[in-house]
Amino acid sequence: MSERFEEQEYNTDSLDTKLWSKILKLLWIHKKDLFVLYGFMIMLAFVDVSFPLLNRHAIDNFVIGNAKENEVLIFALVYLGFVVWQSFNVYYFIKRAGKIEMNFAYDVRQKAFTKLQELSFNYYDKTPLGWIMARMTSDITRLSEILSWGLMDMVWGFSVMFGITIVMLITNWKLAMLILMVIPVLWYISVYFQTRILKTYRDVRKVNSKITGAFSEGISGAKTTKTMAIEDLNLDEFKTLTGEMRQRSIKAAVLSALFMPLVTGLGAISTAGILVVGGQQVLLGAIQFGTLMLFTQYAAQFFEPLRQIARLLAELQMAQASAERVLSLMNSEAQIVDHPHVIERFGTILQPKTENYPKMDGEVEFRNVTFYYNPQEPVLTDFNLKVQRGQTVALVGETGSGKSTIVNLLCRFYQPVEGSILIDGVDITERSIGWLHSNLGYVLQAPHLFSGTVAENIRYGRLDATDEEVEDSAKMVNAHNFITKLEQGYLSDVGEGGSRLSTGEKQLISFARAVLADPAIFVLDEATSSIDTETEQIIQHAIDTLLVNRTSFVIAHRLSTIVSADVILVIKKGKIVEQGTHQELLRLKGSYYRLYTNQFQEDLQNQLLQLKPE
Ligand SMILES: Nc1ncnc2c1ncn2[C@@H]1O[C@H](COP(=O)(O)OP(=O)(O)OP(=O)(O)O)[C@@H](O)[C@H]1O
Ligand SMILES: [Mg+2]
Repeated sequence: MSERFEEQEYNTDSLDTKLWSKILKLLWIHKKDLFVLYGFMIMLAFVDVSFPLLNRHAIDNFVIGNAKENEVLIFALVYLGFVVWQSFNVYYFIKRAGKIEMNFAYDVRQKAFTKLQELSFNYYDKTPLGWIMARMTSDITRLSEILSWGLMDMVWGFSVMFGITIVMLITNWKLAMLILMVIPVLWYISVYFQTRILKTYRDVRKVNSKITGAFSEGISGAKTTKTMAIEDLNLDEFKTLTGEMRQRSIKAAVLSALFMPLVTGLGAISTAGILVVGGQQVLLGAIQFGTLMLFTQYAAQFFEPLRQIARLLAELQMAQASAERVLSLMNSEAQIVDHPHVIERFGTILQPKTENYPKMDGEVEFRNVTFYYNPQEPVLTDFNLKVQRGQTVALVGETGSGKSTIVNLLCRFYQPVEGSILIDGVDITERSIGWLHSNLGYVLQAPHLFSGTVAENIRYGRLDATDEEVEDSAKMVNAHNFITKLEQGYLSDVGEGGSRLSTGEKQLISFARAVLADPAIFVLDEATSSIDTETEQIIQHAIDTLLVNRTSFVIAHRLSTIVSADVILVIKKGKIVEQGTHQELLRLKGSYYRLYTNQFQEDLQNQLLQLKPE
């Protein structure tokens, strides 16, 4: 087994400034949009701070005092201007923030996806697919939300608080102190509650994702559950999960319910203080009534930005895990990479210099290769093998003996820990991965098709192939017949992962793809699944066609493939224990003979039956 994947625990107790500065670097490429956005937020804050001032003017001059008619008109126009400006501002910042959110997510997803394409097999061995999917979707969404809307709110919030403080201090510093005194208490309460509320919601989400997982396991595993009669076990587990969900949701609701009245209460206290102190001053004639109104409005207005900033800080803390995971994905190092001097000559996978690619002959050598997935469990030790160009090598051996590993190394999906693999006498690490893979065809045990049409799937073998060439290669492997019987022939949709086709059909399409690519080396990890005799024969014929004129490694379970091989290697615990042709190995009366007599008897009988005339 590969080493277990362990998710790190992330720090969510304090704000990790180093981490966020790395994330801000990713945001920096959108700086133009950001600055414009923040400019608008500051102007919006200016408008928000101005409205109470306008109100004061109206109260002092129009309600209490006696202003001239055209003064009122001018005031109304100014007021209208502010309202229009505010509306425009709101429209514009929503548009901008949305744009930044989308661009950031697009950009980070693009980078992460490129990274995923570069990473080697061992990354996928130890990283669960679900983990990667969550990073690519919800984590990136979360980050881009916070970085666009969250930071924007913060800029607005600070500007509003700053503006209000200045205006208050200038107007009447004593009354200002009454409001400012409440701030530390309000701040403390906000941070305390927001952090807890968010934490509880995060717990709820965690349990929720477990529930979703249980749902999908319950549904996809329904048949197994029923045949094993473990319905009650599943139900118990499910009950525990949903119970936990209910408990945590209630906790979140209680916290939210406590928070609002506390804050409103504090606001009311500070307003009351202003009314008492300010009211006396109005009576004494020290301040005007409008000023008193201004302060009560500001007292109420102060709270919203404060709450938003507290919320954002808490959100940033919670999102630290997302940020860290996204960064860890983007910073993962591909373990199998070409040397710089190789890249210089042959280019990268995404930008290959195919004009420098030497032609591959197909002579293969494993020289003193040692390899393991985990140091504790060596798979190959000091493995040696030499294959002439054009030869067919059949690998046989019991399950787990290392057959797939040998071809995985040849394909450079993994690299030897010691020793080297040579093609045409040159170490494969001296030629680029791109060169290797463009000269190598690999049909897996479970062939993979991409969503799209049959023709598209065959054309992956060689992207510039014409329709005729696609059809010819299908004909060569006898896939043409079944394809033309499909509803839309070559243009039929194969479904996600080829789900609309049978395994045998998927295999034939993979063979057609390989024929079209015409690689110098062909690798076949043959499927063990039993296929009906007719398809079996078609596939056998396809394999024979593919083996002609190229070096082939066949991990075979079919007797007929093995018998016609130039060399049969019997692999046991990562070592070649026997090597030779079918006849030679039978005469040895060793492992191969036993394997042959046990495993292939049935096969043999089937063949004899078919040979018999009815
Ligand atoms: N990705 C991996 N991570 C860790 N260990 C692995 C991995 N793939 C294979 N192994 C281990 O390496 C050993 C050889 O496996 P390999 O897949 O090469 O066997 P095989 O001969 O192809 O078997 P089968 O006939 O079942 O396909 C086994 O012990 C297996 O458990
Ligand atoms: Mg295998």
